[in-house]
Amino acid sequence: MGDYSQFVSKISSVKPDKGSISCSSPSNIALVKYWGKRPVQLPENPSISFTLDICKTETTLQYEKLENASEDFQFELFFEGEPKPDFKPKIQSFFQRISEYIPFLKHYKFIIDTSNTFPHSSGIASSASGMSALAYCLMQLDKQINPTITEEEYIQKTSFLSRLGSGSASRSIEGPITVWGKHKEVAESSDAYAIKFPYDVHPNFTNYQDTILLVDKGEKQVSSSVGHDLMHGHPFSSERFKQANENIIRLKDILMSGDLDGFIEVVESEALTLHAMMMTSLPYFVLMKPNTLSVINKIWEYRKETGSKICFTLDAGANVHILYPDSEKDGVMDFIKSELVVYCQKGQYICDKIGLGAKLL
Ligand code: DP6
Repeated sequence: MGDYSQFVSKISSVKPDKGSISCSSPSNIALVKYWGKRPVQLPENPSISFTLDICKTETTLQYEKLENASEDFQFELFFEGEPKPDFKPKIQSFFQRISEYIPFLKHYKFIIDTSNTFPHSSGIASSASGMSALAYCLMQLDKQINPTITEEEYIQKTSFLSRLGSGSASRSIEGPITVWGKHKEVAESSDAYAIKFPYDVHPNFTNYQDTILLVDKGEKQVSSSVGHDLMHGHPFSSERFKQANENIIRLKDILMSGDLDGFIEVVESEALTLHAMMMTSLPYFVLMKPNTLSVINKIWEYRKETGSKICFTLDAGANVHILYPDSEKDGVMDFIKSELVVYCQKGQYICDKIGLGAKLL
C-alpha cells in the first residue's frame, strides 16, 4: 500500500481562527484512460490527460476554529448557492480518507460553497474538478498552519489528496499535460499523485483544442466506482492494463515528436477500448448513444475528405470530446456548427482547450 508518511502534516499550535479561501480547479480529459483501481484509490495502470481550461469548479472554503476538536467532521455544503445534502456523503468519506494527512480537519467547522462553470447535469464529470478544488483550498489552510512546506511538496500533496477524493482529480492540479500512475519510462511518476508530463512537448500540441459535444446530458448509467469495480475479474483486464502501459510509452514519444497521426490512433483506440471494457464486463453497459456513433463517423469522414488531424475521445458516457490543433480552429468550428451540432442535445457544446490547472481566486 506504500508509505505516505511524508504527506502527514505536523500538528501545529498555530491555527488561524477563521477565514476563507477561494480557488478554481479544472476538469481534465484522459488520453490514456484510468479504468480499474485497487485500495486505496490506486490505479491499475498509469493514465495521461490534458488539463482543461474552461470547464472548472470554483470553490470557497470558509473555516472557523472550534474551541475543542470535535468527534466528527463539521461542514456544510452549498452547490450553486443551494444546500446540497446529496453531495455530503462523498465529502464525508473524502474527509475520512484524508484526515490522517490533514490532522486539523476536526479542529474546524467548514462551509464549502461550490459551483461549476459548465452546465448543470451536462454529463461532464465534475468529480475531477470538484475534488481537486476542495483539496486545493484545504491545502491553502494547511500551508498557513505548516508554512515550511515547499512549493513542490505543496503541489504533490494537493494532487495526493485530490486522488483520495477521485482518481482523475489528481490530474487536475497542474497542466497542460499530467501523468498519474507509476511507469518506468516516465521519470518521477507515482501511483500516489500525478506529475506534470516531464518532457518537452512538441509545439503541435500547444493550445490544443477540446470541443465537448453534449450528446446526452442524462444521469450517468454507471458510476465511476461501479465502473472501476467491473475491471476486477474482467476477462480482458490484464491485457488492458498491459496495453495502457504500452500506450503511455507511445504517447510519450508522440507528444515529444509532434506525430499527430500517431496521436489520433492512440487516443481514439483508448476511447473505444474504455467502452469495449464496459461492453464486455458483467454486468455490461453500452454508454454510447446512436448520436455518439454518428458523430464518430462524421469525424472519420471529415478527416478523410480534408486531411484534418481532428480526433475524438470519450469518457464513461455518451458525450464526445473533439480534440484538434489550434491551427485548425476555424475550419473545425465550421464543421462542428454545420455537421455536428444536430447530434447535440439542445444543440449544446462547450469550446474548451488545454489549460494550466488549479489556482487561487
Ligand atoms: C473514464 O476518477 O471518476 O474518466 O477514482 O472512482 O473517482 P474515481 O473514478 P474517476 O474515473 C475516471 C474514469 C475515466 C477515465 C479517466 O479520467 O482516466
